[in-house]
Amino acid sequence: MKFELKAKDTQSKARAGTVTTDHGVIETPIFMPVGTVGTVKGVHQRELKDDINPDIILGNTYHLYLRPQTHIIEKAGGLHKFMNWDRNILTDSGGYQVYSLSANRKIKEEGVKFKSHIDGSYHTFTPENVMEIQRSIGADIIMAFDECTPYPCDYNYAKRSMHMTHRWLDRCINHLEKTSLKYDYNQAFFPIIQGSTYKDLRKQSAEYIANAGAVGNAIGGLSVGEPAEEMYAMTEVVTEILPEDKPRYLMGVGTPINILENIALGIDMFDCVMPTRNARNGMLFTAQGTINIKNKKWEADFSPVDDMGITFVDTEYTKAYLRHLFTVNELLGKQIATIHNLGFYLWLVREARKHILAGDFRTWKDQMVKQMDNRL
Ligand code: GUN
Repeated sequence: MKFELKAKDTQSKARAGTVTTDHGVIETPIFMPVGTVGTVKGVHQRELKDDINPDIILGNTYHLYLRPQTHIIEKAGGLHKFMNWDRNILTDSGGYQVYSLSANRKIKEEGVKFKSHIDGSYHTFTPENVMEIQRSIGADIIMAFDECTPYPCDYNYAKRSMHMTHRWLDRCINHLEKTSLKYDYNQAFFPIIQGSTYKDLRKQSAEYIANAGAVGNAIGGLSVGEPAEEMYAMTEVVTEILPEDKPRYLMGVGTPINILENIALGIDMFDCVMPTRNARNGMLFTAQGTINIKNKKWEADFSPVDDMGITFVDTEYTKAYLRHLFTVNELLGKQIATIHNLGFYLWLVREARKHILAGDFRTWKDQMVKQMDNRL
């Protein structure tokens, strides 16, 4: 994997770059649509490619390990082939899902024993077996196994957990060195910074992670319920320490405003379920603010879904029709809203990139943040 920094904003810490892997070039800043179980919910791969056009999507080790199970993905020749997606994929390690989804779990130095949220069966994730599973899934970028602490989190717990995440990182790296690629393309490995909302811990963790010398670095444990200001403060602490010549991935973030603010702090990569999950509940993100399409006020509004027309659904359907689809609970409503939201998120990061390259990112960002704060 290769990262090239193309431009740095002079009035913020925003950067524009490219990440190149064997599955192509990723222009950064990038938003990665979440495809948890081998599908970006509600969108065909063809629409994803032609209409939304992300250079990379995300998959989840936790979910794919439980279903369809690692051996099936391996038999298919890896996740790219299994799901018919020939661009980049990143897999999260399960270090978040195991805490947020499994019925109960026991965290020990060795690893995490958890109960499946699907059938109640017991499983164990260790840094070693999570590396093996991610080798079998075959994403282009794979993540370290970590513990994502909740918010709020007691200082001593956060500190102990951060040190365990660091020891787990060493085990991930040692184990990766012993395993080989399962397919004919490379895999890049990203370690994850933890440390809850404590500046001194974040600083320590960023130093430890930077020292690992990986080709890219990630920030975890944020967007777990803390106020946005605390999230930004933590991003600021760690981007000061992380090497400039490696991509920085802020995991699980966030709203369109969170994304722009974190780009301004030097983040290059994002993922979040928000555009897809909220779409299925009738929430649309636009440059003018958010819309609850289920609201009665749209009942007879025959204007386009979004007159900016980023994707075809924006101009081919009206707000009144989309509201009707939600009222009668038709699948097409969720599909239209998902395509709209993902189209908007990808437009937003591409536009951010353009403004970084043009040198007027800061002014554009401040204006967008103001506009997007509206509820329409
Ligand atoms: N997704 C969102 N936050 C996190 C985190 O802290 N760790 C991992 N592995 N994934 C995440």
